Amino acid sequence: MKVTFFGHASFAVETAGKTLVFDPFITPNEQASHVDLSQIRADYILLSHGHADHVADVEAIAKANNAKIISNFEVVSWFGNKGIEGHPMNHGGKWRFDFGTVKYVNAVHSSSMPDGSYGGNPGGFVIWNDEGCFYFAGDTALTEDMKLIPLTCPKLDFAILPIGDNFTMDAEDAALAAEFVQCDHVIGCHYDTFPYIEIDHEAARAAFAKRGKKLTLLAIGESVEF
Ligand code: NI
Ligand code: MN
Repeated sequence: MKVTFFGHASFAVETAGKTLVFDPFITPNEQASHVDLSQIRADYILLSHGHADHVADVEAIAKANNAKIISNFEVVSWFGNKGIEGHPMNHGGKWRFDFGTVKYVNAVHSSSMPDGSYGGNPGGFVIWNDEGCFYFAGDTALTEDMKLIPLTCPKLDFAILPIGDNFTMDAEDAALAAEFVQCDHVIGCHYDTFPYIEIDHEAARAAFAKRGKKLTLLAIGESVEF
């Protein structure tokens, strides 16, 4: 699995011959100005919730690639009204796609669409296939529900967790989340994009090291293989 960071909570994961794009917020992010949206390929766009800092570039990427959205029912319906095809899910459910199995899991956050309409409840994704298994938490607080993931899903190879504080977990809580989900390698996200979520990188890495976990902070545009 090849993971590429596009800034904030935006990622691409290439696996099983498909490209999954998560929470695309690229053109409004000045720090990602070197990322060319037209170069981003997507077979699927997975959305954790409806907030603008997670869905800003969905329409452009979906229409350029004929990509299908995977999210909660409300987010999928909202984009469906714009003519974008999607697969609706809800918490606790899983579905076998052509790239692997997706389980939509709990997140503690909020969700509204950019026009203020109802965005359902926010979630995260656990995704697995023959190449491995990973958790994309979305925006979330630390929650005991994370302990259900190792009980109900294959062993995680890596997890993408928010660490920016204020709107989500900070690095200390995210390191505990890594223990809850029993995962040793975490890719951090949702930090440094806005003044509210600027973090000390060394302190964040230390918070994970203290629990025997590795935190990777990718440069925008950088990729890592699992
Ligand atoms: Ni949010
Ligand atoms: Mn957010």
